[in-house]
Amino acid sequence: MNLTRLLLSSAALFALAACNASPSQAPVSPSAPGTDNGVSAPAEGMSDTEIQTLVQNYQSFPALNEELKRSGTHENMMVRTYLDPTAMAAFNSQSYPYANGTEIVKQGHKTADGPVEALFIMKKIAGYDPENGDWFYAMTNGDGMVGDKGRIQMCISCHGAVRSKDFVYGFE
Ligand code: HEC
Repeated sequence: MNLTRLLLSSAALFALAACNASPSQAPVSPSAPGTDNGVSAPAEGMSDTEIQTLVQNYQSFPALNEELKRSGTHENMMVRTYLDPTAMAAFNSQSYPYANGTEIVKQGHKTADGPVEALFIMKKIAGYDPENGDWFYAMTNGDGMVGDKGRIQMCISCHGAVRSKDFVYGFE
């Protein structure tokens, strides 16, 4: 049992290391995050500014649910999911994969009548992560301050269970 745990955790570390390794393949100093990596590098994820623009705009998107639902998989928060209009049409007609540029935002509240405390974001960026549906993941606080972002293994490992639906669950 300990061995299994050890194997699991080294697999996770390996996955993280592999994930961190790919951007540094480009011939730039590893100490220069955000440097333009040139043509052969993987597509860039969203900048914090782009994320903040989305945070200001996503509430104009159609929502999957009006009433908040409990999400055991996202810090047990009460959530509401917004898909951009093109993605909502694709979701409803189950036509996958989602279009390049698709934006999905899940709003998290600690209580049903409380303020927005967290946002969980997915954006489809062609060439960003071809093995995992090219999804970029991010988390922010309620004000849009960016926490973790990128090819977040924790998010990918769970959303990968619905690879057949292009990594998007919906509520059922
Ligand atoms: C333990 C599994 C699990 C993990 C880890 C997880 N998710 Fe999810 N995610 C789900 C499930 C299940 C749903 C649909 C039900 C719901 O919203 O609770 C979902 C829904 C979403 C949605 C709405 C689109 C959809 O698929 O329905 C977004 C956006 C999202 N997650 C972002 C993230 C981000 C960002 C992370 C990492 C920080 C993450 N998730 C980590 C399981 C997970």
